Amino acid sequence: MTSPGTSDESSLATIRACFELGINHLDTAYMYGRNGESERLIAKALGKRRDEMVIATKGGLRREGDRFIHDAAPSTLRRQCEESLRRLGTDRVELYYLHAPDEHVPVAETAGELCRLLAEGKTRSVGVSNVSVPQLEEFAAECPITAYQPPYNMLRRQIEADTLPWCRERGIAVLVYWPLMKGLLAGKIRRDQTFGRDDSRGSYDLFRGDELLKSLDLVDRLREIAEAAGHTVAELVVNWTLHQPGITAALCGAKRPEQIRETAGGAGWRLTDEQLAEIDRALARRGTPQIDLPV
Ligand SMILES: NC(=O)c1ccc[n+]([C@@H]2O[C@H](COP(=O)([O-])OP(=O)(O)OC[C@H]3O[C@@H](n4cnc5c(N)ncnc54)[C@H](OP(=O)(O)O)[C@@H]3O)[C@@H](O)[C@H]2O)c1
Repeated sequence: MTSPGTSDESSLATIRACFELGINHLDTAYMYGRNGESERLIAKALGKRRDEMVIATKGGLRREGDRFIHDAAPSTLRRQCEESLRRLGTDRVELYYLHAPDEHVPVAETAGELCRLLAEGKTRSVGVSNVSVPQLEEFAAECPITAYQPPYNMLRRQIEADTLPWCRERGIAVLVYWPLMKGLLAGKIRRDQTFGRDDSRGSYDLFRGDELLKSLDLVDRLREIAEAAGHTVAELVVNWTLHQPGITAALCGAKRPEQIRETAGGAGWRLTDEQLAEIDRALARRGTPQIDLPV
């Protein structure tokens, strides 16, 4: 929200479009947008319809200039949670996440404070994002975890080996971010694409050189499979994501109403076994990206 390539008006229209599409969950964070703009825009867009949305926000991470500051001290989380509620114009959220662990604060201490916020009714459930299995275990010993939020998409599947099965065994919802790999899998990125200085994708190796070309070859193949099925690439990619065992929801970013309309078309139908097998073959041909993707 209010990230490069968008505006407040466009973000408001995109959130409002969710109602007509049957989307009932919005994911935000203390650190999204300049000075909490994302949460304020959500409050403005929802107005009296706030109770129709399941709102999730996150604390423990903030931006200072270009730097991310991890601060998951109990007092910080409490202050950020209360500020998020004020910005959102609500007395509670449905889900409050630890955005990312803080190496200077034991996970158990952070979890203890989130458990107190839960007991006080400031959130109806607690989640964690960007954590490992040992951190999930440490957290769960202090506070019940309802949801886990990791990055996940066709090109980034590491969670299948560890945290995803851990959550499946315990019935914890897994809501994944970057299902479209920040637009790379949405089918609109060109081979000669350049990104503005304020667009973080310009600094990712995945959006450059040979790795970009290999991914765009994959997208071309996915487009053929999608078109044969009567869908767009973005719809196919979202549908594939929702098909993966243990995945509860795909958190799709959108800058304009037409983007969320398209990605919403990724739900409500099922890829056939044959189409899934074709996608597997295309993914095997593309291979795992040989680069470390940022979180
Ligand atoms: N927990 C965390 O640490 C964390 C981190 C990141 C994100 N998240 C959550 O995950 C959500 C999604 O993340 P994201 O927005 O970074 O990634 P994403 O959903 O993979 O990609 C969204 C981007 O793809 C492009 N796009 C979307 N729909 C499209 C369409 N139909 N056609 C063409 N392009 C389309 C748009 O960028 P362009 O138009 O510029 O190409 C859009 O900004 C966020 O809103 C946030 O709630 C959480």
